[in-house]
Amino acid sequence: MKIIGLKSIVIVAALVGVIGCQNAQKADSSNSEEAKVTLRSTFQDDFLIGTALSAGQIMGNNELESELIAREFNCVTPENVMKFMLIHPQPDSFNFELPDKLVALAEKNDQEVIGHTLAWHSQVPNWLFEDENGELVDSLTLYSRMKEHIDMVVGRYKGRIKGWDVLNEALNEDGSFRNSKFYQISGTGYIYKAFEYANAADPEMELYYNDYNMHNQAKVDGAVRIAKMLQDRGIRIDGIGMQGHWSLNYPSQEQLESSIKKISDLGLQVMITELDIDVLPNPYNITGANISDNFKASKEANPYVDGLPDSVNQLHANKYESLFKIFYKYKDNIDRVTFWGVHDGHSWKNNWPARGRTNYCLIFDRQYQPKLAYEKIIAIGEEKE
Ligand code: XIL
Repeated sequence: MKIIGLKSIVIVAALVGVIGCQNAQKADSSNSEEAKVTLRSTFQDDFLIGTALSAGQIMGNNELESELIAREFNCVTPENVMKFMLIHPQPDSFNFELPDKLVALAEKNDQEVIGHTLAWHSQVPNWLFEDENGELVDSLTLYSRMKEHIDMVVGRYKGRIKGWDVLNEALNEDGSFRNSKFYQISGTGYIYKAFEYANAADPEMELYYNDYNMHNQAKVDGAVRIAKMLQDRGIRIDGIGMQGHWSLNYPSQEQLESSIKKISDLGLQVMITELDIDVLPNPYNITGANISDNFKASKEANPYVDGLPDSVNQLHANKYESLFKIFYKYKDNIDRVTFWGVHDGHSWKNNWPARGRTNYCLIFDRQYQPKLAYEKIIAIGEEKE
């Protein structure tokens, strides 16, 4: 429900300024504060607007960056610091310093926190899967290690985290199960256990499945199958995250709408979880975000080192505009839109799928200034008033 629209705030602010305020100067400055248009204020009644924070951003190393993060976003996901390998590198050692800081920072900024991620085949230490001889452990051993991890990590932030990406990237492109070490050891057993343990550790928080290339219908069908498997056993799942690692050429409107509907039809929330629009050439011919893909950089695949041509910036903005039109159309189904990074200077797409490129995926530039895409997104929010 819309409580008060942005335009109304501006009009009220203007009127207050006009109608006999003794201290005009003071009134002006407080009104302009109130009327400041941001992403989080523009979409506050529609969906959360999130970003991913790096270690440096959690530490608050750069004041301008910190101010931007607090101003524009009402939700944060740790880009790396809660991943298994970072938070629990050895059986007996946990790194909670940065995750603790992240949660405290979010509380200070009045932002929700999304935990990322509990069961994922990447950025996970080998000890989780292996015995002292380096052989894969049996499923019961894996489950008890998973339970210990989930109890410890989820339990620590109980009541302070809105939801966790419980399971990340468990599918192949054809919707079959990825042959990860989790799967080799337990088949689909680990999937049930991850959700069961997460629910037990914090019954109030939301539980999500998250994956890339979810505009691919075979893959979203696989995600729907996972959700149904859980639901059939009475295990809770609240939402499915579509990682938005997309480019100027995909996804199509039809693909995106079809995926949103398939997820919503299960009664689950849809989340756009890792949004960035790649503008660089793709000679590797890959889509998605399989982080183990690694190609050699070349001049041809890195053409905009000295700046992005206006024509490409325009395409980038148009793509964001068309995506946000769809997000807004499905605002009753979409709970959150999270960008994967704050600004172009700190996007993982500068180093993936080839290292050392200059990419322009996000909606703030390297000087922390809003790009054309930002203006177009805000305009969608304004039009709806
Ligand atoms: C990426 C981070 O952005 C990088 O800093 C890190 O080096 C690799 O992982 N899918 C996910 C995210 O779920 O966690 C990944 O994040 C990108 C793909």
